[in-house]
Amino acid sequence: MSTPLLEVRNLSKTFKAFRAVDGMELSVEAGTIHSVIGPNGAGKSTLFKLITGVHVPTSGEILLGGQAIGGEHPHQIARKGLVQVFQLTSIFTRLSVFDSVMVAAMATRRRSLDLSGRFRKALAGEVELLLEDVGISHLAKRISGELSHGDQRALELAMALATKPRVLLLDEPTAGMSPAETSTIAALIVSSVRSRDITVVLSEHDMDVIFEISDRVTVMHQGRVIAEGTPQEVRTIPEVMAVYLGDQVSGVVSVGYGPLPRRRESGPRTPLPDSSKHREKGQS
Ligand SMILES: Nc1ncnc2c1ncn2[C@@H]1O[C@H](COP(=O)(O)OP(=O)(O)OP(=O)(O)O)[C@@H](O)[C@H]1O
Ligand SMILES: [Mg+2]
Repeated sequence: MSTPLLEVRNLSKTFKAFRAVDGMELSVEAGTIHSVIGPNGAGKSTLFKLITGVHVPTSGEILLGGQAIGGEHPHQIARKGLVQVFQLTSIFTRLSVFDSVMVAAMATRRRSLDLSGRFRKALAGEVELLLEDVGISHLAKRISGELSHGDQRALELAMALATKPRVLLLDEPTAGMSPAETSTIAALIVSSVRSRDITVVLSEHDMDVIFEISDRVTVMHQGRVIAEGTPQEVRTIPEVMAVYLGDQVSGVVSVGYGPLPRRRESGPRTPLPDSSKHREKGQS
């Protein structure tokens, strides 16, 4: 197998005496959608913050294309092409949809932010294409902060794509979304990354999304990996079932590890999807 594009080796992060990430291992192949799942508090967001440089690792290594990036500043890491989909900040919510994506496109090219000049003209076609790709070109002139929740998430994806990332990290991209918005954003993630040769690291509680779009799944629990494999493999591993079901299997005690993963359907919460249903269309 080729060198992984992104690699995490024996990575730990301690907050005071608490090890939020504890000897984490992750190996992400280029061009894949690699999901990191786990119950609330497993350490997924902390792992992402370590990868993007928001947190400095207590110990361990993070490698992008074989080069160590652990402990570098977020802007240095972003410049190397490792980008987390950002939440719309108050600055962007006051800009138009078009200008928000334009600013993201300009920022990554290290040019001054000139929203009226020649550089803007040169990038306009690219911005229009991005808005089209994420399905919000009809909203280009609207103020970003006034969009629906789902449209804002699509805008955030367009802004991240505008920076031309090599690796895109998405931490719960469907949180707070309606079932329809969830399906749309999942489809968008797949189509926009596949057409751009981007590698995705995704954390998500919606198991339907995970099992539909992931090439590989790493299961985290208490800061470390408890299972890894294809979606089909992972759902049958007893330790994974234990963590999500509140069972005791293979010595994994799983009392009080937060709610089961959310499924798109309303109604009773269901644990890992039945493998017989996997990838069947029309299940959502
Ligand atoms: N800055 C911090 N200071 C202290 N503890 C923290 C900090 N950030 C995270 N933690 C703790 O680390 C653990 C892991 O948190 P993290 O947010 O990474 O979990 P998660 O897997 O993303 O959970 P969720 O599924 O709820 O988003 C939690 O117990 C959390 O309280
Ligand atoms: Mg989290």
